[in-house]
Amino acid sequence: MAPKYDMKARDKRGRDYAEHLDKLLDIRGKRILEIGPHLGDLSIVLARDYDCEIVGIDPLEHPNWGEVMAQYPSIRFIHGDMADPPADLEDNSFDLIISFVVWEHVRHPWSALSQCQRLLKPTGKKFMRANLYRSAIASHLYTKTKEPWPHLTYSPNEIKKKLKLPFLGWAFWVNKLTYQQYLFYFRQLGFYINHQVFWKVHFDAAYYDKYEQRLGLYPKWDLETDFFEVVLDFDPDAPKMPVADPVYARMPQPEHEPQIELQPEPQPAPDAEKT
Ligand SMILES: C[S@@+](CC[C@H](N)C(=O)[O-])C[C@H]1O[C@@H](n2cnc3c(N)ncnc32)[C@H](O)[C@@H]1O
Repeated sequence: MAPKYDMKARDKRGRDYAEHLDKLLDIRGKRILEIGPHLGDLSIVLARDYDCEIVGIDPLEHPNWGEVMAQYPSIRFIHGDMADPPADLEDNSFDLIISFVVWEHVRHPWSALSQCQRLLKPTGKKFMRANLYRSAIASHLYTKTKEPWPHLTYSPNEIKKKLKLPFLGWAFWVNKLTYQQYLFYFRQLGFYINHQVFWKVHFDAAYYDKYEQRLGLYPKWDLETDFFEVVLDFDPDAPKMPVADPVYARMPQPEHEPQIELQPEPQPAPDAEKT
Protein backbone atom coordinates (compact mmCIF):
# COMPACT_ATOMS: atom_id res chain seq x y z
CA MET A 1 0.00 0.00 0.00
CA ALA A 2 1.31 3.49 -0.86
CA PRO A 3 2.20 5.64 2.21
CA LYS A 4 -0.30 8.34 3.26
CA TYR A 5 0.76 11.99 3.47
CA ASP A 6 -1.88 13.66 5.64
CA MET A 7 -0.43 15.36 8.76
CA LYS A 8 -1.67 12.65 11.13
CA ALA A 9 -0.13 9.84 9.07
CA ARG A 10 3.13 11.77 8.68
CA ASP A 11 3.46 12.47 12.40
CA LYS A 12 2.67 8.84 13.24
CA ARG A 13 5.28 7.58 10.75
CA GLY A 14 7.85 9.97 12.23
CA ARG A 15 7.07 8.78 15.77
CA ASP A 16 7.12 5.09 14.77
CA TYR A 17 10.49 5.49 13.05
CA ALA A 18 11.91 7.38 16.05
CA GLU A 19 10.67 4.78 18.52
CA HIS A 20 12.23 2.02 16.43
CA LEU A 21 15.55 3.90 16.28
CA ASP A 22 15.49 4.60 20.01
CA LYS A 23 15.09 0.90 20.81
CA LEU A 24 18.07 0.04 18.63
CA LEU A 25 20.36 3.01 19.19
CA ASP A 26 19.46 5.09 22.25
CA ILE A 27 19.02 8.33 20.32
CA ARG A 28 18.26 10.92 23.02
CA GLY A 29 20.41 14.06 22.78
CA LYS A 30 22.48 12.71 19.88
CA ARG A 31 23.83 14.63 16.88
CA ILE A 32 22.21 12.90 13.89
CA LEU A 33 22.56 13.13 10.13
CA GLU A 34 19.36 12.09 8.36
CA ILE A 35 19.88 11.20 4.70
CA GLY A 36 16.79 11.84 2.57
CA PRO A 37 14.54 13.50 5.20
CA HIS A 38 11.99 14.43 2.49
CA LEU A 39 9.35 16.51 4.36
CA GLY A 40 11.28 16.20 7.62
CA ASP A 41 8.70 14.22 9.58
CA LEU A 42 11.27 12.06 11.38
CA SER A 43 13.69 14.96 11.90
CA ILE A 44 10.92 16.94 13.62
CA VAL A 45 10.13 14.12 16.05
CA LEU A 46 13.83 13.59 16.83
CA ALA A 47 14.33 17.30 17.59
CA ARG A 48 11.01 17.81 19.38
CA ASP A 49 10.68 14.61 21.44
CA TYR A 50 14.29 13.35 21.79
CA ASP A 51 16.33 16.59 22.07
CA CYS A 52 18.49 15.63 19.09
CA GLU A 53 20.48 17.97 16.89
CA ILE A 54 19.60 17.12 13.29
CA VAL A 55 21.22 17.77 9.95
CA GLY A 56 19.13 16.52 7.02
CA ILE A 57 20.44 16.32 3.46
CA ASP A 58 18.23 15.79 0.41
CA PRO A 59 18.59 16.73 -3.28
CA LEU A 60 14.84 17.50 -3.35
CA GLU A 61 14.29 20.69 -1.38
CA HIS A 62 10.83 20.93 0.17
CA PRO A 63 8.89 24.20 0.59
CA ASN A 64 8.15 23.43 4.28
CA TRP A 65 11.84 23.27 5.29
CA GLY A 66 12.13 27.00 6.09
CA GLU A 67 9.16 26.86 8.42
CA VAL A 68 10.41 23.68 10.13
CA MET A 69 13.91 25.14 10.71
CA ALA A 70 12.38 28.34 12.12
CA GLN A 71 10.26 26.34 14.56
CA TYR A 72 13.06 23.90 15.54
CA PRO A 73 16.46 25.66 15.62
CA SER A 74 18.21 22.32 16.26
CA ILE A 75 17.27 21.19 12.72
CA ARG A 76 19.29 22.17 9.65
CA PHE A 77 18.14 20.96 6.24
CA ILE A 78 20.66 20.98 3.40
CA HIS A 79 19.64 20.94 -0.25
CA GLY A 80 22.33 18.55 -1.49
CA ASP A 81 23.50 15.08 -2.39
CA MET A 82 24.91 12.69 0.23
CA ALA A 83 27.54 11.62 -2.33
CA ASP A 84 28.88 15.19 -2.33
CA PRO A 85 27.89 16.98 0.89
CA PRO A 86 28.88 20.60 1.68
CA ALA A 87 32.42 21.11 2.95
CA ASP A 88 31.32 22.47 6.34
CA LEU A 89 30.19 18.99 7.44
CA GLU A 90 33.25 17.95 9.41
CA ASP A 91 34.95 14.56 9.74
CA ASN A 92 33.92 12.48 12.78
CA SER A 93 31.12 14.87 13.71
CA PHE A 94 27.97 12.69 13.94
CA ASP A 95 26.89 10.18 16.58
CA LEU A 96 24.39 8.60 14.20
CA ILE A 97 23.63 8.58 10.49
CA ILE A 98 20.15 7.33 9.62
CA SER A 99 17.98 6.78 6.56
CA PHE A 100 14.64 5.15 5.82
CA VAL A 101 14.00 3.96 2.23
CA VAL A 102 16.58 6.29 0.71
CA TRP A 103 19.58 4.22 -0.48
CA GLU A 104 17.72 2.64 -3.36
CA HIS A 105 17.37 6.17 -4.82
CA VAL A 106 20.97 7.25 -4.24
CA ARG A 107 23.13 7.72 -7.29
CA HIS A 108 26.79 6.96 -6.57
CA PRO A 109 26.11 4.83 -3.47
CA TRP A 110 29.83 4.10 -2.98
CA SER A 111 30.64 7.83 -2.70
CA ALA A 112 27.67 8.39 -0.40
CA LEU A 113 28.72 5.51 1.88
CA SER A 114 32.31 6.80 1.93
CA GLN A 115 30.98 10.16 3.09
CA CYS A 116 29.05 8.42 5.88
CA GLN A 117 32.26 6.72 6.97
CA ARG A 118 34.07 10.08 7.01
CA LEU A 119 31.35 11.96 8.90
CA LEU A 120 30.61 9.35 11.58
CA LYS A 121 32.49 9.47 14.86
CA PRO A 122 34.66 6.36 15.37
CA THR A 123 32.12 5.35 18.04
CA GLY A 124 29.19 6.30 15.79
CA LYS A 125 26.50 4.08 14.31
CA LYS A 126 24.81 4.00 10.96
CA PHE A 127 21.21 2.85 10.54
CA MET A 128 19.78 2.13 7.11
CA ARG A 129 16.56 0.55 5.83
CA ALA A 130 16.44 0.17 2.08
CA ASN A 131 14.55 -1.49 -0.74
CA LEU A 132 16.52 -3.84 -2.99
CA TYR A 133 16.47 -3.59 -6.79
CA ARG A 134 15.55 -7.20 -7.50
CA SER A 135 12.56 -7.15 -5.16
CA ALA A 136 9.10 -7.54 -6.70
CA ILE A 137 8.18 -3.94 -5.76
CA ALA A 138 11.38 -2.05 -6.58
CA SER A 139 9.89 -0.42 -9.67
CA HIS A 140 7.67 1.66 -7.30
CA LEU A 141 4.81 0.92 -9.70
CA TYR A 142 3.21 -1.73 -7.51
CA THR A 143 0.13 0.43 -6.93
CA LYS A 144 -0.40 0.70 -10.70
CA THR A 145 0.68 -2.65 -12.11
CA LYS A 146 -0.76 -5.89 -10.85
CA GLU A 147 2.41 -7.71 -11.84
CA PRO A 148 5.50 -8.14 -9.64
CA TRP A 149 9.02 -7.42 -11.01
CA PRO A 150 7.83 -5.41 -14.08
CA HIS A 151 11.26 -3.72 -14.14
CA LEU A 152 12.94 -7.13 -14.59
CA THR A 153 10.52 -8.63 -17.10
CA TYR A 154 9.69 -5.62 -19.35
CA SER A 155 11.66 -2.73 -20.80
CA PRO A 156 10.85 0.81 -19.52
CA ASN A 157 9.12 1.56 -22.85
CA GLU A 158 6.98 -1.56 -22.59
CA ILE A 159 5.93 -0.55 -19.05
CA LYS A 160 5.07 2.97 -20.16
CA LYS A 161 2.86 1.54 -22.94
CA LYS A 162 1.24 -1.07 -20.68
CA LEU A 163 0.37 1.51 -18.03
CA LYS A 164 -0.32 4.34 -20.49
CA LEU A 165 2.12 6.59 -18.65
CA PRO A 166 3.97 9.48 -20.34
CA PHE A 167 6.98 8.86 -18.05
CA LEU A 168 7.84 6.46 -15.24
CA GLY A 169 8.74 8.97 -12.50
CA TRP A 170 11.98 9.41 -10.57
CA ALA A 171 11.18 6.62 -8.12
CA PHE A 172 11.25 4.02 -10.94
CA TRP A 173 14.96 4.54 -11.51
CA VAL A 174 16.31 2.89 -8.38
CA ASN A 175 19.95 1.88 -8.29
CA LYS A 176 20.84 -1.71 -9.01
CA LEU A 177 22.93 -2.64 -5.97
CA THR A 178 22.42 -6.16 -4.67
CA TYR A 179 22.74 -6.88 -0.96
CA GLN A 180 26.03 -8.67 -1.65
CA GLN A 181 27.38 -5.45 -3.17
CA TYR A 182 26.33 -3.52 -0.09
CA LEU A 183 28.21 -6.10 2.01
CA PHE A 184 31.33 -5.59 -0.09
CA TYR A 185 31.09 -1.81 0.37
CA PHE A 186 30.59 -2.21 4.14
CA ARG A 187 33.76 -4.32 4.39
CA GLN A 188 35.82 -1.91 2.33
CA LEU A 189 34.77 1.00 4.55
CA GLY A 190 35.28 -0.82 7.84
CA PHE A 191 31.60 -1.14 8.76
CA TYR A 192 30.57 -4.10 10.91
CA ILE A 193 26.94 -5.23 10.99
CA ASN A 194 25.49 -5.52 14.48
CA HIS A 195 21.82 -5.73 13.56
CA GLN A 196 20.32 -7.14 10.37
CA VAL A 197 16.71 -7.79 9.30
CA PHE A 198 15.20 -8.77 5.94
CA TRP A 199 11.64 -8.32 4.70
CA LYS A 200 10.36 -11.01 2.36
CA VAL A 201 6.73 -10.19 1.70
CA HIS A 202 6.06 -9.66 -1.99
CA PHE A 203 7.44 -12.82 -3.58
CA ASP A 204 4.74 -14.29 -5.87
CA ALA A 205 5.55 -17.98 -6.35
CA ALA A 206 2.92 -18.60 -9.05
CA TYR A 207 4.14 -15.64 -11.11
CA TYR A 208 7.75 -16.74 -10.60
CA ASP A 209 6.93 -20.24 -11.89
CA LYS A 210 5.11 -18.81 -14.92
CA TYR A 211 8.05 -16.54 -15.86
CA GLU A 212 10.86 -18.76 -14.60
CA GLN A 213 12.50 -18.52 -18.03
CA ARG A 214 13.30 -14.83 -17.34
CA LEU A 215 13.21 -14.59 -13.55
CA GLY A 216 15.26 -17.75 -13.02
CA LEU A 217 18.26 -15.81 -14.32
CA TYR A 218 18.35 -13.95 -10.96
CA PRO A 219 19.25 -15.55 -7.62
CA LYS A 220 15.94 -16.48 -5.96
CA TRP A 221 17.07 -14.97 -2.63
CA ASP A 222 17.34 -11.60 -4.38
CA LEU A 223 13.86 -11.91 -5.90
CA GLU A 224 12.43 -12.83 -2.49
CA THR A 225 14.04 -10.04 -0.48
CA ASP A 226 12.24 -6.70 -0.53
CA PHE A 227 14.03 -4.68 2.15
CA PHE A 228 16.99 -4.92 4.45
CA GLU A 229 17.69 -3.03 7.64
CA VAL A 230 21.10 -2.84 9.26
CA VAL A 231 22.93 -1.06 12.04
CA LEU A 232 26.62 -0.60 11.27
CA ASP A 233 29.52 0.39 13.48
CA PHE A 234 33.32 0.36 13.49
CA ASP A 235 35.87 -1.84 15.23
CA PRO A 236 36.69 0.16 18.41
CA ASP A 237 40.39 -0.83 18.17
CA ALA A 238 40.78 -0.07 14.45
CA PRO A 239 37.88 2.19 13.45
CA LYS A 240 37.30 2.77 9.74
CA MET A 241 39.87 0.14 8.66
CA PRO A 242 38.72 -2.30 5.94
CA VAL A 243 37.29 -5.56 7.28
CA ALA A 244 39.53 -8.42 6.11
CA ASP A 245 37.70 -11.01 4.05
CA PRO A 246 38.56 -14.57 5.17
CA VAL A 247 37.93 -15.81 1.62
CA TYR A 248 41.21 -14.19 0.64
CA ALA A 249 43.16 -15.21 3.75
CA ARG A 250 45.12 -18.06 2.09
CA MET A 251 45.96 -16.12 -1.03
CA PRO A 252 49.54 -14.75 -1.08
CA GLN A 253 49.18 -11.01 -0.63
CA PRO A 254 50.84 -9.09 -3.49
CA GLU A 255 52.32 -5.69 -2.70
CA HIS A 256 50.10 -4.12 -5.34
CA GLU A 257 46.83 -5.30 -6.76
CA PRO A 258 47.73 -7.55 -9.73
CA GLN A 259 46.84 -6.01 -13.06
CA ILE A 260 45.89 -8.06 -16.08
CA GLU A 261 47.32 -6.71 -19.28
CA LEU A 262 44.48 -6.60 -21.80
CA GLN A 263 45.15 -7.33 -25.44
CA PRO A 264 43.44 -4.95 -27.88
CA GLU A 265 40.12 -6.27 -29.23
CA PRO A 266 40.59 -7.72 -32.74
CA GLN A 267 39.09 -5.27 -35.24
CA PRO A 268 37.15 -6.44 -38.32
CA ALA A 269 39.04 -6.09 -41.60
CA PRO A 270 38.11 -2.76 -43.25
CA ASP A 271 35.98 -4.37 -45.97
CA ALA A 272 34.52 -7.15 -43.77
CA GLU A 273 31.29 -5.16 -43.13
CA LYS A 274 30.50 -5.00 -46.83
CA THR A 275 30.05 -8.76 -47.23
C1 LIG B 1 11.31 7.43 -0.72
S1 LIG B 1 11.88 8.96 -0.10
C2 LIG B 1 11.98 8.60 1.62
C3 LIG B 1 11.77 9.80 2.48
C4 LIG B 1 11.79 9.58 3.97
N1 LIG B 1 13.07 9.11 4.43
C5 LIG B 1 10.68 8.64 4.39
O1 LIG B 1 10.95 7.57 4.93
O2 LIG B 1 9.52 9.00 4.18
C6 LIG B 1 13.58 9.00 -0.61
C7 LIG B 1 14.26 10.32 -0.34
O3 LIG B 1 15.65 10.16 -0.58
C8 LIG B 1 16.13 11.33 -1.18
N2 LIG B 1 17.41 11.08 -1.85
C9 LIG B 1 17.62 10.53 -3.07
N3 LIG B 1 18.93 10.55 -3.39
C10 LIG B 1 19.58 11.13 -2.35
C11 LIG B 1 20.95 11.46 -2.11
N4 LIG B 1 21.89 11.20 -3.01
N5 LIG B 1 21.27 12.07 -0.94
C12 LIG B 1 20.31 12.35 -0.03
N6 LIG B 1 19.00 12.05 -0.21
C13 LIG B 1 18.63 11.46 -1.36
C14 LIG B 1 14.97 11.70 -2.12
O4 LIG B 1 15.06 13.02 -2.61
C15 LIG B 1 13.76 11.46 -1.24
O5 LIG B 1 13.43 12.58 -0.46
